[in-house]
Amino acid sequence: MGTDGLKILVVDDEPNICTGLSKGLKSEAERIDVASSGEEGLERFSQLRHDIVITDVRLPGEIDGLDLVRQIHETHPETHIIVITAYGTVETAVEAMRRGAYDFVTKPIDLNVIRHQVQQAAEHHRLVTENHRLRDQLAEVGTISEIVGNCKATHDVLRQVRQVAQTDATVLILGESGTGKELTARAIHQLSPRHDKPFVTVNMGALPDSLLESELFGHEKGAFTDAIRQKIGSFEAAHEGTIFLDEVTETSPKSQVELLRVLEAREIRRVGGDKTIPIDVRVVSATNKDFDDLIRDGEFREDLYYRLNVIPIRVPALRERREDIPLLVEHFLNHFCKRYGREPKRMAVEAMNALISFGWPGNVRQLRNFMERLVVTVPTDVVHLADLPAETISSPSAVCGSLSTAVEEAERNAILAALASCNYHREKTAKLLNISIRSLHYKMNRYGLH
Ligand SMILES: Nc1ncnc2c1ncn2[C@@H]1O[C@H](COP(=O)(O)OP(=O)(O)OP(=O)(O)O)[C@@H](O)[C@H]1O
Ligand SMILES: [Mg+2]
Repeated sequence: MGTDGLKILVVDDEPNICTGLSKGLKSEAERIDVASSGEEGLERFSQLRHDIVITDVRLPGEIDGLDLVRQIHETHPETHIIVITAYGTVETAVEAMRRGAYDFVTKPIDLNVIRHQVQQAAEHHRLVTENHRLRDQLAEVGTISEIVGNCKATHDVLRQVRQVAQTDATVLILGESGTGKELTARAIHQLSPRHDKPFVTVNMGALPDSLLESELFGHEKGAFTDAIRQKIGSFEAAHEGTIFLDEVTETSPKSQVELLRVLEAREIRRVGGDKTIPIDVRVVSATNKDFDDLIRDGEFREDLYYRLNVIPIRVPALRERREDIPLLVEHFLNHFCKRYGREPKRMAVEAMNALISFGWPGNVRQLRNFMERLVVTVPTDVVHLADLPAETISSPSAVCGSLSTAVEEAERNAILAALASCNYHREKTAKLLNISIRSLHYKMNRYGLH
């Protein structure tokens, strides 16, 4: 194997050993430095971060070889340390290994032996580095590439994701239902230094107050009637990782107070417990609601909003990035054909055009569900316009007529499709469209939809 930019540090107070090793190991490394005391060794190491350190156990000065091993290993566990011991002092060698040395060599030093040890260390070092590189690459490909899209708006989101991922800043993700907010939150975690620690999602709207507190903060055994055993809450479970507070606007006023306290103090108390537990978590939250309205109506605390909204990321609606639709269609077609063991399918042009001009009120999730249905229901390998459900096909008149007609047509189609995708359940439809049920009824009347 090549020297791969390998750096070796030799620490010994005997000049003969330093020169001997420098010469003897020259072909194994790109650079070899020497130091004659522990202090000097540490200083050189802190400048150059050598991959392999070879040190005598006995050194003059305050820092002896064993101290050096401990200090380097504590701060740079990936560094390979080989200690030199006098013949027969196995105890010292064992102690050195216990403190983090990788190998030892006895005096008088046999150059062939130490060369072999250095080669092994170098190989090990190369594998570890390679592994890290592959893991980083996988994290990048695996998560960022799950976010399919190539238009400017999507690139902007990805750029923001990469930027905030490097920091611990609190992030608020805004966007309509189904735009990919959770996917975005996961990407932030995956690209952050916390990626090998937990990512914990809490759906703030799904639980009543009493349960939410114990979900978030945990409880002690006997804290309430059903607390038959101790429970670790999401904040504790996410320690050193990321907590994702989904639908954060659904939090009750009481829980908002609790949440604010925890975010400010960075410590929690389990329900029924008296001990405070410090937490180290990155907080990402998301909502599809309009904060301005909620704050104005007194439904959401402004102080909590500012805590959560340190860095906002807005995920655009699918209709604001129509250029991504063909890519997404392709992606979901492949995905579901594989999953259902179907031959690969493709979209006829008019069919694709219809999908592109459709309004997608349920955004990417709606498109995804739609493609799944197509894969299951269309037997042929080409999907034609006629295969699409009527509600998805925007009328061509929308393109030919005036702008206001086009807008109305688009709105009508959006409502139709939303109704269809919610099984004509009106409350769900209104929610999906992010409008009030009254407004939905009004529009349905206006467009003659029943
Ligand atoms: N850019 C994208 N590329 C590929 N898949 C996507 C993309 N955006 C969203 N999806 C998929 O669409 C679905 C909805 O995404 P996600 O759950 O992240 O949306 P959301 O904004 O959290 O929705 P909601 O507001 O309803 O909770 C998921 O299956 C997700 O994998
Ligand atoms: Mg979500």
